[in-house]
Amino acid sequence: MSKSAILSSSIAKKYWMALTGLFLCLFLVGHLIGNLQLIFITGEEGKRAFNEYAHFMTHNPAIKALSYLTYFSIIFHSIDGIMLAIKNKKARPQNYAYNNPGANSSTPSRYMAVLGTLILVFICTHMANFWGKMHFDTIPLHTKTIEIPNEMGGEAQKVELYLTTKGDYVAAQQFEVRNETEFYVKDLDLKMGEGYKDLHGLVMSFFGQNKPGFDKNDLAPFAVILYMLAMATLGFHLWHGFSSAFQSVGVRVSSYKHPIEIAGKVFSVVVPGLFAIIPLIIYLF
Ligand code: HEM
Repeated sequence: MSKSAILSSSIAKKYWMALTGLFLCLFLVGHLIGNLQLIFITGEEGKRAFNEYAHFMTHNPAIKALSYLTYFSIIFHSIDGIMLAIKNKKARPQNYAYNNPGANSSTPSRYMAVLGTLILVFICTHMANFWGKMHFDTIPLHTKTIEIPNEMGGEAQKVELYLTTKGDYVAAQQFEVRNETEFYVKDLDLKMGEGYKDLHGLVMSFFGQNKPGFDKNDLAPFAVILYMLAMATLGFHLWHGFSSAFQSVGVRVSSYKHPIEIAGKVFSVVVPGLFAIIPLIIYLF
């Protein structure tokens, strides 16, 4: 293969890596806004907002298409990144006699492949814990318990209600759940509506809160620490990756160079930083 063909394929690889990387940055912003509901809206209102949001994200056809684009981008970006790293290493078989990488490149830029691989491991375990359970497991449905006062002066009666996708609450004891989320009138073959999987409860219990219907997670402190370390890794990856992606797609011309670099540094601190406080706040409060 001619030298120019190798160069152009490397350039093509960098270009596609940059495009998929920038798309994944957009995904991160959307995902962060959705997840911030977990800590900024409390009580039944927060639980309802998050479960309705998760239901919309998994049922809306346009969002589903974006999800497939996200999975594709993660796979493509990772494979391309690993191939580029191997190619770069092969192009430099021997260590230079004078090797001082710190003199002309930042620390994160020299570890992009390692940081990216750690993030990929995080994404796989993260998806197994939440996305996989949401899509393929039977998890408890969104319920709310109300207390009906006893007019005779005795103990109040507790009634469990299911939230339906039409936005109302129905008494759980009147229905049996079939096909994971569908409510049927007991003893009749009559479907009366559908409920929401309680993804909010799943996330809350994963990070240490006691939620009815979910097992207590004794490993929650480790999960919180691992999530925070993963977010630090993501921050380092973005520190170099964000502005480098603009350069690879040809946007970082001299007049935009400085603002893009500043935006990249702000993005790489603020976005992973906000992601990192979510598990911590859930665990602590
Ligand atoms: C504290 C931080 C985070 C929390 C609480 C969180 C929570 C969740 C939840 C609950 C889901 C399942 C959503 C569903 O299936 O409807 C999900 C999916 C996902 N998460 Fe996260 N996430 C966090 C951070 C991240 C980060 C930093 C990344 C990437 C580096 C990430 C990548 C993904 C991906 C790729 C999916 C699948 C999205 C889809 O199907 O469209 N998450 N996350």
